[in-house]
Amino acid sequence: MQAEPMTNDLVHARALPARHYVGEAMLAMEQHAVFGRSWQLVAHQGQLAEAGDHVVEQIGQVPVIVVRGQDGVLRGFVNVCRHRAGPLALCNGKGAKALHCKYHGWTYTLEGQLRSAPEMQGAADFNVEEIRLPPVRVHEWQGLVYVALDESVPPFEQVYAGIAERIAPIDLSAMRYLRRDSYEIACNWKVYIDNFLEGYHLPHVHPGLSKVLDYRAYDTELFAWHSLQSSPLRNSAAIYGDGEAFYYFVYPNVMLNIMPGRMQTNRIVPLGPGRCRVEFDYYYAQDAAAQARIAADQDFSDEVQHEDIAICEAVQRGLTSGTYDAGRLCPKRESGVWHFHNLLRAAYADAPVQAHGDHA
Ligand code: FES
Repeated sequence: MQAEPMTNDLVHARALPARHYVGEAMLAMEQHAVFGRSWQLVAHQGQLAEAGDHVVEQIGQVPVIVVRGQDGVLRGFVNVCRHRAGPLALCNGKGAKALHCKYHGWTYTLEGQLRSAPEMQGAADFNVEEIRLPPVRVHEWQGLVYVALDESVPPFEQVYAGIAERIAPIDLSAMRYLRRDSYEIACNWKVYIDNFLEGYHLPHVHPGLSKVLDYRAYDTELFAWHSLQSSPLRNSAAIYGDGEAFYYFVYPNVMLNIMPGRMQTNRIVPLGPGRCRVEFDYYYAQDAAAQARIAADQDFSDEVQHEDIAICEAVQRGLTSGTYDAGRLCPKRESGVWHFHNLLRAAYADAPVQAHGDHA
């Protein structure tokens, strides 16, 4: 596959070519060049409140574990034992005193230092104090926990710059996690994100949502690593309250859908070239008004999500039909898609290239 040229001119922009939405080789390249080189949302702080609490995740091809130490510090490690690559944990857990490998029982401290290795006395030049789990970067922000595998990933503060200030007086850190809804969708992970990034489809796909957002005032702003779509709310007192809707997309796969007293995070996880899982986590302010809207909010989100699923799955069929390559973007309504595609083009250009010139 030839590298896609950067498109710096919105008025001439085209979408990413259809070939980027199909095939195992493309996804394998993205797992390394996109997911392996970005901040990834892995947990909320409620899952990691006490020493020994831990979560496991897969970032691209790399299993990771995030654990709170006895000293209260949150740390992340590659979840791959230094003996013969077994896992330190297979699922999330609470209150572990140490990390015991599930294969042969080597034991690491919560700080990642090997402490004991059964029956290894006969191994020459083997010193437990020389063996540590490789660390990964961890960052806590507004009650959310992120990891980054690679030192080249920009500082977290740069990627999320200005978001908390922009949405004030909404205070994300005061909201509490309530529940997760997960949806498996028969489309490439980027199809779902492309769809999120434009309000162009609102009048055609979402008749209910169109009634509570102001399409004429709907606006898109672009930042270095994220974009913001916003709209005044109207006729939405029972669902969202009064105020403004903020739809943040943070490269490469996180959305923050913020209304008065409520945040919904979306994390888009590729399951294959033509399949992804979308995780909706709901967080609410603890005031009575926000609490009273929970049921209506979740029902309405589910309705909108099913409308999005239907159109995204149809688009994936179009992309794999062999009849389409890369269409022109609407400068007025699709600048967020253009911005995302340019970030991807830059990531693809940095990916390892095989000898024949194709991306790995
Ligand atoms: S792989 Fe971990 S103890 Fe053997």
